[in-house]
Amino acid sequence: MKGPVQVENSVPCTMETGVSDRYVEQVQRAQRDPEAFWLSQARRLVWHKAPSHASRSDFGGDVRIAWYEDGQLNVAQNCLDRHVLTQPDKPALIWEGQEDGQRLVLTYRELHAQVCRLANTLRRLGVGRGDRVAIHLPMVAEGVVSMLACARIGAIHVVLFGGFSAEGLAERLVDSGAVVVITADVARRGAKAIPSKVTMDEALLACGASSHVRHVLVVPVTGTDVPMQPGRDLSYAAEVAMEIPDCPPEVMDACDPLFLMYTSGSTGRPKGVVHGTGGYLVWASYTHELVFAAQPGDVFWCTADTSWITGHTYVVYGPLCNGATILIYEGLPSWPQPGRWWDVIDRNNVSVFYTSPTVVRAAMREDADVVRSRSLSSLRVLGTVGEPISPEAWQWFHDEVGKACCPVVDTWWQTETGGVMLTASAGQVPGRPGAAGLPLPGIDAVLVDAQSQTVVEGAGDGLLCMARSWPGQAMTLWRDHERFRQTYFTTCPGRYFSGDGARREADGYFWITGRVDDVVNVSGHRIGTAEIEDAVATDAEVVESAAVGVPHDLKGQGLVVFVVPRTEGSLDPAAVRRAIAEGVGRYAVPEQIYVVRDLPKTRSGKIVRRLLRKIAAHDLSNLGDLSTLSDPDIVEDIIAQVAAQA
Ligand code: PRX
Repeated sequence: MKGPVQVENSVPCTMETGVSDRYVEQVQRAQRDPEAFWLSQARRLVWHKAPSHASRSDFGGDVRIAWYEDGQLNVAQNCLDRHVLTQPDKPALIWEGQEDGQRLVLTYRELHAQVCRLANTLRRLGVGRGDRVAIHLPMVAEGVVSMLACARIGAIHVVLFGGFSAEGLAERLVDSGAVVVITADVARRGAKAIPSKVTMDEALLACGASSHVRHVLVVPVTGTDVPMQPGRDLSYAAEVAMEIPDCPPEVMDACDPLFLMYTSGSTGRPKGVVHGTGGYLVWASYTHELVFAAQPGDVFWCTADTSWITGHTYVVYGPLCNGATILIYEGLPSWPQPGRWWDVIDRNNVSVFYTSPTVVRAAMREDADVVRSRSLSSLRVLGTVGEPISPEAWQWFHDEVGKACCPVVDTWWQTETGGVMLTASAGQVPGRPGAAGLPLPGIDAVLVDAQSQTVVEGAGDGLLCMARSWPGQAMTLWRDHERFRQTYFTTCPGRYFSGDGARREADGYFWITGRVDDVVNVSGHRIGTAEIEDAVATDAEVVESAAVGVPHDLKGQGLVVFVVPRTEGSLDPAAVRRAIAEGVGRYAVPEQIYVVRDLPKTRSGKIVRRLLRKIAAHDLSNLGDLSTLSDPDIVEDIIAQVAAQA
């Protein structure tokens, strides 16, 4: 391996001249005949029955998203069996634990065997096609095995974040109607032990009679003794050991759901985004190959937790469908010492490293020697996702981690889009620090003027919409198709509305300007302000509250909550924090809580969030005409309150 590169003296090897001819040709081909283009992309999968058409989607009327409708396939077979035939001994999954020396390599043959054993276990426990299985695991191999085992038997997986509170878990268990849960005894997170099983027990208790959960499989991550309820709770290890390593895959229709992924919107409770089988897998495979210029020898490390969409598409489905080696690491970037992730890259010869801007910002703050003392010479492509990356952070990532030799792909996409939509695909589209890049071939991204509803041509800003469906598009919201239609297809009728605003340069590059709804992005975690306010409302001392996002150096955005108490002096901000930790999860606890006399409202009673956002960010310029508020004096009071707590 070569030693650390002196960035100052190196000649950047990522100086691309322009968009590649191949890319331009693909864009044109997809535009000319989308149906033929997407049908040809379906050939990247193995089908029991090949589809005769690509899209039967319609953004009008009741809205219908349907891809490869008459095709039949199995996702696990695509991700495993076909590679077992051609490359059985190739590592499919490398796992590193956070304790020194903990490492596990599973070849395609071994991963296939593990998936089959669990698939057989689930079948024996009565899980069948269309049943929901909740997966609540840290970054261990069993998380990937569980997802693929569900896919193998046609069960719909619902992966739940380890940071959700018991209430947050309960809500999703009830909504999804999960029949089996796969959890850990205890999860490790740096020096902390996260009591996964105990939290799951509390969640199941909170579900009460609304729970459909018949069994809980417990993965021994740390080997800690945990309470086991006889009859319901089972040892994962003992159960899978009873099964044979072979399990016939269920033949699924392309539009059968593959998984539910709960995400936050501007109103109401989290919604279960439903992804289908055929379209989603084509999209995962297509984007993984195109965006990262995937090569057969790649060791692909997407650092996202498998409980987020990024973990679904780029830890599991995209790279495994394409026969790559995936890496999963259990621990934090800088624990037990700074630079831990750089060591993981060097030890495992990671070639593609896909992470979040939050991780890059944190690494930038460390001593320059931390990154410079590592080789990182195996890296070929770097990527980020989840939030905007500033030009400075992009440059640092490019220069210091990529040693000025790796393209950096900033990828814009969403839970609902299934995979990357806008980016500077590695080696084909030159990266531009801070810009999201170009739409992928086949993506018809448009900017719509919010007032006039007209499409903005050329350079300009607007609401970021998609004029046409794409294979990775979510099909619906779990048991609430009407909410799906209303959320995504009514703001700009006839188009999918992303919830983001964007600006386009004359040469077509997009810059994301951020959410235009009440969704806050904290370290890449999408948090609906309504969820926070609902949790705060469980405190009897609260009359009402408003949560807003503010710029945050490290996290991108932070949360600030304004709370109105029932009686002056009756409300303890610590109780509000507790209510949020219990109702949503610790990850959503705000930076600041301001107890205020009232909230600024219009005469018709609508909270003026724009004012609260500015005041919370200490930006008192252009507050606008306050005389239209029902109580203009309240603004001064709130400003004083915020200043006093600064
Ligand atoms: O606001 C955009 C932001 O994250 C939102 C989607 O969040 P989620 O569904 O949790 O998916 C995150 C991982 C795909 C978007 O509406 N976002 C995502 N990627 C970027 C981004 N904002 C700016 N630049 C990005 N690259």
